[in-house]
Amino acid sequence: MLRIEPLSRRHHREGFDCGNPELNDYLRHTARQHTDKGLSRTEVLVDDEAPEEILGYVTLALAEVIIDTLPPRYAKKYPAKAYGVKLARLAVAQSRQREGLGTLMMIHAMRRALQVAASAGIIGFFVDAKDAAASRYYRRFGFLPLPDDPHKLFLPLATLRQALGAP
Ligand SMILES: CC(C)(COP(=O)(O)OP(=O)(O)OC[C@H]1O[C@@H](n2cnc3c(N)ncnc32)[C@H](O)[C@@H]1OP(=O)(O)O)[C@@H](O)C(=O)NCCC(=O)NCCS
Repeated sequence: MLRIEPLSRRHHREGFDCGNPELNDYLRHTARQHTDKGLSRTEVLVDDEAPEEILGYVTLALAEVIIDTLPPRYAKKYPAKAYGVKLARLAVAQSRQREGLGTLMMIHAMRRALQVAASAGIIGFFVDAKDAAASRYYRRFGFLPLPDDPHKLFLPLATLRQALGAP
């Protein structure tokens, strides 16, 4: 059975390869340190049959949002600054891409964002896409490009709630 759990020492970070060296290095050398320092939190996708093998990972952080950067119909609803949850990193092992595992972790991350919304208040979920293909991938989940930089995307809280059937 597939499971998403906090990254720990028992996971084999060195063996993970999503095809992107920066994302591989982050998992290998930085993700645990950032979790320990309270900068972000990384969870990994594993299969019970081989629980030390990392099939994918997702890193979430908080972000301050400059409201002027949002599409105007959202910008007018808020004061100058607010907070969001940021999808800092998302990656799936190359050998397991295009099986729906990225989608599985994205839905998990969206649930996590709603938990933050319920406990501290956020205006939505944010991501910086590394290229046009990644940007297209995120738009499938309802993310909207920011007007001045289409590689930065925003999933409004109302869309997040609607997507997860939350009240
Ligand atoms: C991008 C990534 C996380 C997607 O995960 P995945 O498990 O391969 O994706 P899924 O199987 O959930 O894909 C869902 C859909 O998105 C499409 N898709 C997958 N990767 C895509 C990409 N890079 N660009 C556009 N569409 C993509 C798939 O075709 C699939 O569509 P379908 O259901 O109609 O077949 C994964 O491919 C990955 O780790 N890539 C390398 C690292 C990376 O680019 N991360 C994003 C950084 S911004």
